[in-house]
Amino acid sequence: MKRIVLGVSAGIAAYKSVLLLRLLREAGHHVDVIPTSNVENFVGDATWEALSGNRVTSNVFDGVQDVNHVRLGQLADLVLVVPATADLMAKAAAGLANDLLTGTLLATRAPVVMAPAMHTEMWQHPATVANVQTLRDRGVRIINPATGRLTGKDSGPGRLPEPEEIFASVQDLLGDARLAGTKVLITAGGTREPLDPVRFLGNRSSGRQGVALAEAARAAGAEVTLIACHLEVPAPHGVTLIEASSALDLHEAVFTHAPGQDVLIMNAAVADFRPATIENSKIKKRDEYSAPVIELVRNPDILAEVVAQRATNAQLPPFIVGFAAETGDEQGTVLDYGRAKLARKGCEMLVVNEVGATLTFGQDTNSIHVLFAGSSDSVHAAGSKLEVARVVIEQISHATKGHAAQE
Ligand code: CTP
Repeated sequence: MKRIVLGVSAGIAAYKSVLLLRLLREAGHHVDVIPTSNVENFVGDATWEALSGNRVTSNVFDGVQDVNHVRLGQLADLVLVVPATADLMAKAAAGLANDLLTGTLLATRAPVVMAPAMHTEMWQHPATVANVQTLRDRGVRIINPATGRLTGKDSGPGRLPEPEEIFASVQDLLGDARLAGTKVLITAGGTREPLDPVRFLGNRSSGRQGVALAEAARAAGAEVTLIACHLEVPAPHGVTLIEASSALDLHEAVFTHAPGQDVLIMNAAVADFRPATIENSKIKKRDEYSAPVIELVRNPDILAEVVAQRATNAQLPPFIVGFAAETGDEQGTVLDYGRAKLARKGCEMLVVNEVGATLTFGQDTNSIHVLFAGSSDSVHAAGSKLEVARVVIEQISHATKGHAAQE
């Protein structure tokens, strides 16, 4: 977790800064937003406060007792200005400090990153060119604007880069790039096995844990592909999203997308069985008393198949993580069953979570144990699904480094 000041100056691209704020918060950072006073014409303080979880003001005379114009800059690990208008950069280059953001820029000794956005004529004006050069000479990192559609009918250089791109450069700068350059494929949610055009056999997985894993992997710099089976929560930004419905669809999607990936995380709750036949029309009550008998057949074990096929296909991911939803009983604990399953599946890591009517499914919190092939170690984590996901991603990043070193 780092402390970031997100300065926002008054341009239409301020809306993209809202998405950047979300990405920074999802990655676990503390963010103090400092808009300039005209930003409220584009995005109001309520939005910044709700998404940052912190009070927001543009005014140096608010909360004077806290000496915010100096304090926020002093505490920050990084100061971002997104978007940076021509006016804001001119003030910063001149060393003006007539509002909270410009004061913070003078007071801070943290790295400063600015992402300019303006019309092409303003970006190319000699005054702006000189101000950008002055700021660069002083060590401010300026992210070059993208070329493309601007406000109105104009197009050219001056467009704010996408929030995901700015976020990626911020993560690099903060050193949270543990999985940079790593391709991670994650399956999430629960499969549905059709019985007829309207009915299916399903399970209670909401996809929350898989989505949290995708967020945590992306925040660690990974290139993430998420295969989603009926998510009850929105998929995160900045990942490639593929949808799958039944276990057979998921099987096909995994084998299509797994080649070339470095890590596969099989988090989806995959139905082990499916109806032997799918009726073309809705199954009807034929008389008053009888009920149909549904014959089930086995689904392929996708995880075990990918592990098995690696023997002959070097393109398949060298590091595979399984999930096990377990309940303990008189014969063994949740961990005993987890270790047996890890050995059976042949993957590199198994994340075991205890399930029950009130545990795990559809909840916002989770309690897990991470088990490693060929080791009796285990790592326990409990908390929100995002907190748990961060621990899993941390363990994957440790283990894959070890893995690469052994090869
Ligand atoms: N899995 C899979 N294909 C299946 C079933 C499960 O790829 N047909 C994956 C899941 O995504 C998970 C892991 O296997 O990563 C463990 O799933 P689980 O259902 O707990 O294991 P099973 O092997 O089905 O064992 P059990 O007999 O306990 O149901």
